[in-house]
Amino acid sequence: MEEEPVYSVLFVCLGNICRSPTAEALMRRLVDDTGLTEAIAVDSAGTGNYHVGERPDRRMREAAAERGVNLRGRARQIIPSDFERFDLVVAMDRSNLRDLRRLAGNRRDRVQLLSDFLPDGHPVDVPDPYYQGRFDQVIDILDQACPQILKRFMGER
Ligand code: 4NP
Repeated sequence: MEEEPVYSVLFVCLGNICRSPTAEALMRRLVDDTGLTEAIAVDSAGTGNYHVGERPDRRMREAAAERGVNLRGRARQIIPSDFERFDLVVAMDRSNLRDLRRLAGNRRDRVQLLSDFLPDGHPVDVPDPYYQGRFDQVIDILDQACPQILKRFMGER
């Protein structure tokens, strides 16, 4: 077993109350199921500070709970040291990507769009469910991407 994580991934959306905490929980479940709990660190953050300290959105928690996924933690805003700490920073949409690339300085290459881990033809942005709903669709998209993210890690080991 690894003493320290050998790989780390940070999921980022705008508020850190809908998409990114869900991605974090799905990824953690996959990592746990694969026996890599000690090897891979998973976290999430928001580009904005509007919801800092809040629990994940109730609607998102309910949709996740239907799939047996428990959303935990409190929203936080991304900080500069995240770009040093995390090997991979995954943006949910192009707006997040722009913001993160601007903040990342010479670590820009660590920032990638979630849809880079989806099959061709998939929408480029994970839809923002805060106003639009479609929480189930968000879970489906994230669930598809997580195994591909894990594969990336296995490839780099
Ligand atoms: P998230 O969703 O970025 O997936 O956490 C949102 C949460 C809050 C807002 C927008 C999107 N908001 O405008 O407050």
